[in-house]
Parts: sequence; structure tokens; C-alpha cells
Amino acid sequence: MNAIEVNQLTKIYKTSKKNIEVTALNNFSLIVKKGEIFGLLGPNGAGKTTLIKILLGIVFPTSGSATILGSPISDFRIKQKIGFLPENHKFPNYLTAEQTLKYFAQLSNVEIKNVGLQIDKLLELVKMTKWKKTKISKFSKGMMQRLGLAQAMMNNPELIFLDEPTDGVDPIGRKEIRDVLNDLKNSGTTIFLNSHLLSEVELVSDRVAIMNSGKLLKEGTVEDLTTSKESYIIETASNFDNNLLLESFDNISIKLDPANKLNVNVKDNLELNFVIDKIRKAGVNIKTISIQKHSLEELFMSLINDERRGEK
Ligand SMILES: Nc1ncnc2c1ncn2[C@@H]1O[C@H](COP(=O)(O)OP(=O)(O)OP(=O)(O)O)[C@@H](O)[C@H]1O
Ligand SMILES: [Mg+2]
Repeated sequence: MNAIEVNQLTKIYKTSKKNIEVTALNNFSLIVKKGEIFGLLGPNGAGKTTLIKILLGIVFPTSGSATILGSPISDFRIKQKIGFLPENHKFPNYLTAEQTLKYFAQLSNVEIKNVGLQIDKLLELVKMTKWKKTKISKFSKGMMQRLGLAQAMMNNPELIFLDEPTDGVDPIGRKEIRDVLNDLKNSGTTIFLNSHLLSEVELVSDRVAIMNSGKLLKEGTVEDLTTSKESYIIETASNFDNNLLLESFDNISIKLDPANKLNVNVKDNLELNFVIDKIRKAGVNIKTISIQKHSLEELFMSLINDERRGEK
């Protein structure tokens, strides 16, 4: 059983203004496996929050279906097993961290005798213990997000949805949130997070999907999406007559950079070995061979730009 299965979801918002329609999701399908951290990426307005809201039953789809932990999203009982940190959440300023969590404990049906313990456990987990009795009006953005995370974990959920969990949080706070997410994952919780902070998602997610204009553009492990298996960098130890060397490769694209590194584009392993043989025959010493890695950001930008060009 998968944690989430999304089948051809379409959401068209109808606005009251001049009957304008916005297609927020367009035939969108996705699978999130149990126990993984899944990152959904997309620029502003891509449809990320709409997807979460549909999965949580806050917004209804125009067409398509989805299941959460094996049950259709229309089954309200499933909500007992999930947690949610909304985007731009706001808690009343006059409450303390403890009072806020008490409120959510009641909403989550935590047994009264366990409430105190559960609140202490969660505050500890998000490193907020010393702010237990402090009013929210004194909290920084990072503290608000960590309290929001604690709230989302109140019912010990099997699956947790986080909409922009590190939005507005400084690098130290982001690292702390990543640590909390990894602890959660290690305890068996499935995590689905939305973000436009690519490097964040790259660091924490097992698998990611990139979406734009309501459509899925790419999906896979971070490793798969960021390594291009046909592109290698060969670092050489000695200087050589590069003209002579480069001339001997007809169709294979090889570029030399100033630091004696050859950028090689091959179609398969055989071709890579052919290149290596040639280089060695020319008396050149090879120091290292490595697969060329792209950052998730590079992939993201090229996918979004390709799509925008296609729309024109
Ligand atoms: N209630 C609504 N009524 C009309 N249009 C809406 C509504 N909610 C969202 N939209 C539109 O649907 C599209 C997708 O919005 P959504 O909030 O899902 O994007 P997002 O990927 O979460 O963006 P962000 O990164 O800014 O949070 C946008 O064009 C948005 O303007
Ligand atoms: Mg959003």
C-alpha cells in the first residue's frame, strides 16, 4: 500500500470575477511511498497547495481521485492518521506555546491524562521546551514554524503534510527542522512537503516531483534527477596536445577546460571506455573520472524554462 496515490486530479477554480477559470491542477498523477520524505517542487502558483488541500479534503477536485493510506480522500476517518502544517499558518498571539498545543491536543482527541506528556515530548522534539510558557507574540518566524510542526505531530500521524515548512526560517533553523524531519522519518512517518526552496528539498527528500502550471514535469529520486549518466568529467594529470587528442573523436563531444579537465558526453559505457583508451594511448595520465552532477536547481530551471517556451 502506498501512502498517497493521486490519479488524474484536475482542479479548476471558478472565480466570481467575470467568470474567469484557473486550472490549478491538470490531470495530475503521483505516488508517494510509505516511509519516505517526498518533496513537491514548483514555482509560485504551480498548484502545490491546491494538491495538499485536495488530499486533506479542504478543497474538492473537479475530476480525478486520490487515496491516502489506502482509503479514498472522502473517508474522513483517515484524518486521525494525518498531520498538517499549513502554509502561512497563524496561531492567536495571546496564547503561549503550551496553550496552543493544548488546544490542538483537544482537537486531536489526545486523552486528558496524556496531554501534558505529549506537549512536553513535542516541544522537546522541536527544541522549544524553554519557550513553553512564552506568548506567541514574542516568537520569531522560525519558532512559529517549529511550533506549527509540533502541532502537526500532535496525533502521532502516520503521514504528515508540510506546506513550506522552512519558509522564512534562517539557515540554522532550517537545519533544525531538517533534523526533526529525519527523526520523524526514522520513526516510520511518511512526510510530504511542498517547497520552492530547492536546496532544502534536495537535502532532505528521498524522492521529488517538479510541477508547473498544474502539471507534473518530472519525478524521481534526487540522485536520479541530479546525475546525468552520459556526462563525465575526466581530470588529467599531465598537459597534452589537446588539439591532437580532441581531433581523434568524431562524434563524441569533448570539451577541455583550463584546469586540464575534459568534459565528455557519451551515449553509453562502451563509448566512455573508447574515449579513455584513446586518451591513455595519447600518453595522457588520468587522475579522476567522475559523473557530472547537476543541482536540482539547474534541473528545475531548465524544466520550467522549457515549459514556458513551449507555452509561447
Ligand atoms: N481559492 C482559489 N480561487 C481561485 N484561484 C485559486 C484559489 N486558490 C488558488 N488559486 C490559483 O490556483 C493556482 C495554484 O495555486 P496554489 O496556491 O495551489 O499554488 P502554489 O504552488 O501553492 O503556490 P505558492 O508557491 O505561491 O504557494 C494559482 O494560479 C492560484 O492563483
Ligand atoms: Mg502554496
